[in-house]
Amino acid sequence: MSTILVQGYHLLKGEIEIQGSKNAVLPMMAAAVLHKGTTVLEHVPRIQDVFCMMGILESMGCTCALEGHRLTVTASDLRDVRIPEKNGKAMRSSIMLLGALLGRCGEACVHYPGGCSIGSRPIDMHLSALGKLGAVFSEEGDVIHALSGKLRGAHITLPYPSVGATENILLASVAAEGTTILKGAAMEPEVESLCRMLKSMGADIQGEGTGVLRIRGVRELHDTVYDVPGDRIVSGTYMSAVMAAGGEAVFRRSSPGHLEQVVRTMERMGARVRISGGDMEIKAAGRPKAICIETGPYPGFPTDLQSMMLVLLTLGDGEGCLKETVFEGRFATAKELHKMGAEIIIEGKEAHVAGGYSLKGTDVQARDLRGGAALVVAGLAAEGVTRIGDCRHIFRGYEDICGDLGCLGADIRRER
Ligand code: EPZ
Repeated sequence: MSTILVQGYHLLKGEIEIQGSKNAVLPMMAAAVLHKGTTVLEHVPRIQDVFCMMGILESMGCTCALEGHRLTVTASDLRDVRIPEKNGKAMRSSIMLLGALLGRCGEACVHYPGGCSIGSRPIDMHLSALGKLGAVFSEEGDVIHALSGKLRGAHITLPYPSVGATENILLASVAAEGTTILKGAAMEPEVESLCRMLKSMGADIQGEGTGVLRIRGVRELHDTVYDVPGDRIVSGTYMSAVMAAGGEAVFRRSSPGHLEQVVRTMERMGARVRISGGDMEIKAAGRPKAICIETGPYPGFPTDLQSMMLVLLTLGDGEGCLKETVFEGRFATAKELHKMGAEIIIEGKEAHVAGGYSLKGTDVQARDLRGGAALVVAGLAAEGVTRIGDCRHIFRGYEDICGDLGCLGADIRRER
């Protein structure tokens, strides 16, 4: 089991480049399956979820080559529509292949992704929307077998702007016959990036970045080379690290245009932020101010940075509160922060955080990807050494959190 050790109380200072976005690249890798040719993605993060998706694509007959941060996927010899159980269950994004395989082959066989530590995470919206496009599902245990023949465009309205369901509908409908109008679509930047990437392959999509998407199916797609944007959640994690440890830093390729709520929130907490093109400079100024934050679908405050905010509010200058509206089970990190001396009371969807606390380094467990990264942030502000166990969760999404924060002056290392 891999562990990260952080010795707290080191100011951060310096400049780093932010890795490519995990949640943008995974659906793009699924999109590569739609095309009987080659897709090249640049700035691909070298993270576990990407390796896992490569394993799935290879098992289906695609060839994948990751050289540095350039990934080449060739899907001309796709021969299997079954997603292997081990990799499929290890990563929720495997469900993206449902839409892509139906679009390409009219058939798919995937495992139910099931619940996870941040909530139950059902896929009812995915299945009902793909059903409207003509897919028929049968289930055996936790295996879903989908058949569609040729998909047909449809009018779909999502009851909630689900990121994954929007991406699955996009992947299926670009190859469908006729036009799909999708209302209530998720507006997350990763959905917009997927639209742009699909358009670079020849797809006909209008409305990217809005809640209404109009997708006209095309007969075939073509080769593309596409640049994965910087990971806004990694940027937000490292901004939180500067706020927690103190100091100042510049983040290059940080996707600041997609971090408006986060920048505003950090400024309300006392940070000074300067944006220049894709670069962002953040300076911390003393204890974060106590505020109330509510997560929500984009352009709201991202749920993926909620755990980091629990840390900052603990260090805050008074009582703060946090309302989680996206995933019901996302307060698991509070339990670990208690071990470090935080006082957080959870009442349903709300966390009340007594600020003014000094954190103390101790042994804690990463319970999920973002919660694990939040414990690293907490370790930077804690007295003594924090040992974060079960860090495999963190490496699913952060390419080199120890190297990045080490570059900024943190005393942090990985122990295998
Ligand atoms: C994506 O998950 C991201 N994952 C998540 O990031 C992110 O937290 C989330 O969007 C919200 O921004 C990837 O992109 C790979 P949703 P997704 O469908 O698509 C409910 C990370 O740490 N829902 O928008 O699964 C669901 O239970 C990860 O990088 C249904 O009820 O999120 C949740 O409450 C974690 N039925 C809400 O909608 C459905 O069919 C939002 O989920 C689908 C979703």
